[in-house]
Amino acid sequence: MSTSTSSFNQQQYQFRDYTFIAGGFDSRSNNVDTRLFSTATPPTDNAALKELLTATPAHPNNNIPPHITERALMEPKLYQISPHPLYLIKKRIEDYFKVVGHNVNSDEGFVSMDSMAPIVTLEANFDSLLIPQDHVSRSPSDTYYINDEYLLRCHTSAHQVQLLKQGHRQFLCTGDVYRRDDIDRSHYPIFHQMEGVKVFDEDATEEQVLDDLKATLEGLAKHLFGAEAECRWVEEYFPFTDPSLELEVFFDGEWLEVLGCGVMRPEIVKNGLGKGDSDTLPRAWAFGLGLERLAMILFQIPDIRLFWSDDERFWKQFSEDMAMDGSATFQTYSKFPPVYKDVSFWLKKNENDVVTFHPNDLLDLVRGIAGDLAENVEMVDQFVNPKTTLESQCYRITYRSMDRSLTNEEIDELQENLRSKIESALADKVELR
Ligand code: DAH
Repeated sequence: MSTSTSSFNQQQYQFRDYTFIAGGFDSRSNNVDTRLFSTATPPTDNAALKELLTATPAHPNNNIPPHITERALMEPKLYQISPHPLYLIKKRIEDYFKVVGHNVNSDEGFVSMDSMAPIVTLEANFDSLLIPQDHVSRSPSDTYYINDEYLLRCHTSAHQVQLLKQGHRQFLCTGDVYRRDDIDRSHYPIFHQMEGVKVFDEDATEEQVLDDLKATLEGLAKHLFGAEAECRWVEEYFPFTDPSLELEVFFDGEWLEVLGCGVMRPEIVKNGLGKGDSDTLPRAWAFGLGLERLAMILFQIPDIRLFWSDDERFWKQFSEDMAMDGSATFQTYSKFPPVYKDVSFWLKKNENDVVTFHPNDLLDLVRGIAGDLAENVEMVDQFVNPKTTLESQCYRITYRSMDRSLTNEEIDELQENLRSKIESALADKVELR
């Protein structure tokens, strides 16, 4: 199963296991804070791009279920609503970069963007970042495609080149990102990332850039986790940086992965700065972090579905002036009993004798039907019938509400819906047992 930051730290061929979620949304107050550090205007949402999302009939490559479309169109974003924990974490990071921004040669400081539409081109999401053609993140089993040209961004790195082209040299960019992934307490098909980029003068050496990157991000870690927080650097692989690093922080007795970063590959910087033919090139660093992950660690929020809750027992635990040093921990308001249901099926083979089912196909259906009542899905049994050579898989679905007890009747109904949805939507991939 995948962890925190992403699939981008994986070399191409490796396929992760699975995941997924949904549910209705309440657009809450419109107390939106979009304060910027500078006067630069963030790019506005493009209505034409949004139309793409809802175009009918959908393109044959479109693998976005309705519950995801609904959330992709949702405004304001969770991190724009005070005092949502994602809002608090974002603000805390921005506060840090306001100070850091003053220490650099440029007068501009870091600009913060947080309203770029989540619909981007394949070129922005992958090609512009030198992500290889056969990289796992391009697979339709991992990413939500709208058509051949557009998708729901799976990371905020998709805006690096675009923002450089707009002339920004130091920026933060926050947005909702989308991935077909596991269903468990730390994975949700939509989460939120923040990207940071800083471009240096042409005479800066790689060593200087790397030193600045480390000092800046260690400073950020201390700002978030307390002045005593112990940090360590781990070598990593990302297609868009070289060298690539991950920052880990020792918190609550364990080393936790906090963010990915590195020195941007020169081809990417060149493209962003429009310096295709120059010999010398400014260097730049970049980092990316997951806001849910940080908030879950810092406030000890036990389940990622809680971020989407409209229960006041969740909301009232956060405020603009609360302590952000790890001392304010989330109090679970109650724990309702889970209900487990299993579903088993044979995996069909196509005319080339190949299985086409991917567990994420099941997870999308579960999220679509059960929404945020789906807490966990895991494969509990698997075997091959030696006579037919067909594989059987059994998945256990844990249903649990964050704020009430579920009745047997409602879960039976969800499970029945799921079975009939599997029969219709996955008819050519599996056969129910
Ligand atoms: N885009 C990466 C992800 O989603 C995170 C990341 C890693 C961003 C390294 C960066 C970077 O800008 O330099 O996992």
